[in-house]
Amino acid sequence: MIYAGILAGGIGKRMGKTELPKQFLTITEKPIIINTLEQFVINSNVDKVIVAVPENWLNYTIDLIKEYKYSDKIEITCGGKDRNDTIMQICKYIEEKFGLKDDDIIITHDAVRPFLTQRIINDNIEACKQYGATDTVIQATDTIVESVDKELISNIPNREYMYQGQTPQSFKIKELMNIYNELTEDEKNILTDACKIYAIKNKNVKLVKGEIYNIKITTQYDLKLAKMMVKIKGEEDA
Ligand code: CTP
Repeated sequence: MIYAGILAGGIGKRMGKTELPKQFLTITEKPIIINTLEQFVINSNVDKVIVAVPENWLNYTIDLIKEYKYSDKIEITCGGKDRNDTIMQICKYIEEKFGLKDDDIIITHDAVRPFLTQRIINDNIEACKQYGATDTVIQATDTIVESVDKELISNIPNREYMYQGQTPQSFKIKELMNIYNELTEDEKNILTDACKIYAIKNKNVKLVKGEIYNIKITTQYDLKLAKMMVKIKGEEDA
């Protein structure tokens, strides 16, 4: 089975004061999260779409999904204390509800990246079947400057080898759960990114080509940019 795990368990602090967590804000005539969900619902390779939201937004999400796009592919559960914990909550939900086979895959995706494409989803599935783990990336266009003390440059890595991480990140579910459960609490606290779990355990993660427009809506600026992107696309399609 191929599952999509939609990560919507955050509250969007960097977006500042808004009447709703950012994933529920509107960019087209629909909320961001609905735009994201649609891409997985229409993909015939994806069997189930599990959405995780903060517990106090569970009923709101159930109503929203009914209102906009009811599909029996979609199931809703509660997110966790951080992003990786949300991924684990979704994996546990899948394990309890559907059982787990060795080859079951989860395509984890930020709810606030509504511009992903069918090509990115399909490439993730194919690469994950072969390699067991994937990360969607774009080549870095700016030079990356590292500063450990936040004052002086400690390193300037060769840009040719630098990429910017996006999502989806996809995994064979059983292996992901096994690796995560082996981590110490300290390791869990520093591993902000699910692929980093594989990297520190020296496990292969296959790169999948992302798109520059597959942006994460993090700040008010991103929200304005997303609305502009939708407007321009509408004009191009007209
Ligand atoms: N996310 C999640 N569970 C958490 C925290 C984050 O599922 N406990 C999700 C967010 O809902 C978002 C995605 O992970 O779709 C990317 O994270 P980010 O942009 O950092 O979202 P927030 O944590 O909501 O934002 P902020 O850090 O500004 O509070």
